Amino acid sequence: MVNKRKFLVINGPNLNFLGKREPEIYGSLSLKEIQEYTEKRVHSFCKYVNIDWFQSNLEGEIVDRIQKASLESLDALIINPAAYSHTSVAILDALKLIEYKVIEVHLSNTYNRESFRHTRLTAKSSNAIIEGFGKEVYFLSIISQITEEDF
Ligand code: DQA
Repeated sequence: MVNKRKFLVINGPNLNFLGKREPEIYGSLSLKEIQEYTEKRVHSFCKYVNIDWFQSNLEGEIVDRIQKASLESLDALIINPAAYSHTSVAILDALKLIEYKVIEVHLSNTYNRESFRHTRLTAKSSNAIIEGFGKEVYFLSIISQITEEDF
């Protein structure tokens, strides 16, 4: 039996408005379209991947989902904490509960942008960061965890 690889992708506030929100920075696809695009690309490399998607505008709900994920057996947690990346000690602390890989992603290159986006709190709990590749960041983070044996 093939061992399915399991990933959870958490998206933070305002990412439910992708497509409408500052498309010149974040692109024209909605979050649902990015999810479909990511799944299609990932599955073209490896069929045996399960991706669970979660989005919330609320810090506490994100903390709750991370706590739940800490009890799950996953290959990696991918998180775009959005604006909370720059402010949330609560999400930083929750991510410390995760014993497997945590990859923080950002659609935009935050270092090209306003200086308040250079303050990074949640990234201190991540193993890796992928940012600035637009919608590709979700695909890149997942595929980075797929090994040759999974193909
Ligand atoms: C973002 C960057 C954050 O600074 C911003 O608040 C977001 C999106 C990104 O994906 O580029 O909401 O996380």
